[in-house]
Amino acid sequence: MNETLSFYKEGIELNNIYCENCISFMQKLPDNIIDLTVTSPPYDDLRNYNGYSFDCESIAKQLYRITKKGGVVVWVVGDKIIKGNKTLTSFKQALLFQQIGFNVHDTMIYKKKNTPFMRSNAYTNCFEFMFIFSKGAPKTFNPLKTKTVRSGEEMLVCNKKADGINKKILGKLNEEKTKTNIWEYAVGLGGTTKDKIAFRHPAIFPEKMCQDHILSWTNKGDLVFDPMCGSGTTCKMALLNGRQYLGCDISEEYVSISKERLNSYLNFPQQIPLFSEN
Ligand SMILES: C[S@@+](CC[C@H](N)C(=O)[O-])C[C@H]1O[C@@H](n2cnc3c(N)ncnc32)[C@H](O)[C@@H]1O
Repeated sequence: MNETLSFYKEGIELNNIYCENCISFMQKLPDNIIDLTVTSPPYDDLRNYNGYSFDCESIAKQLYRITKKGGVVVWVVGDKIIKGNKTLTSFKQALLFQQIGFNVHDTMIYKKKNTPFMRSNAYTNCFEFMFIFSKGAPKTFNPLKTKTVRSGEEMLVCNKKADGINKKILGKLNEEKTKTNIWEYAVGLGGTTKDKIAFRHPAIFPEKMCQDHILSWTNKGDLVFDPMCGSGTTCKMALLNGRQYLGCDISEEYVSISKERLNSYLNFPQQIPLFSEN
């Protein structure tokens, strides 16, 4: 546990959310302290976030410095379409993280169950990227499982050979397997979250998505960070899953939303049911 951080000279305490530009906030943090960052930048559309400027390179460099060896950054991002042309900002950012020193450990997809925005001359977009950047090989991977379609016993191939002659023996099918890297979530009230207050922010993470990353890449007591935490979803899910958290957002309005949202969980975390596996 990162108990020492609570005594940090800059007055930053664990399990708190701060209103500040994330670059200057991260500059106050020591090297190698964060186990996992789950965050989402303001995409291409700065107007929706009160027009704050966005310096991706400085953010990536600071994230690299404060992430522990083997720590992970989950960077959730989509592309805007400007005059019929996808910006590909997502990939430009991923290349930047790679140049700075992160491994691009995986490119995962966050698929949305309900997709209201249709284009007349293209297929309906239903996903965003979840880039998994790691500082060296990830030190923690707790693979989430999903039920297999078939169970029971079946004749299974036991010696697949180049000559095409396969021997089969009766074997037990696995009842579960590791999930794929495409994760699907319902969005909107009740899907993303049941916290009505969170919808005062225009772009909220599905809580379950956050939780799935927290369970995958950290263990209890680890420190989870969101430098652009908006309505506070990452912090809330870290709290409810027994992890420590730090949040930061440049907007006073969003920080007060996230603090109010978390307040109702701070005293009674044990009463909040966690999501069950799919
Ligand atoms: C996509 S939203 C994050 C939403 C969040 N994941 C949630 O579940 O509510 C991006 C956030 O980045 C914040 N932001 C933009 N530039 C920032 C900066 N330089 N430092 C800190 N926060 C910033 C915006 O205020 C906005 O709340």
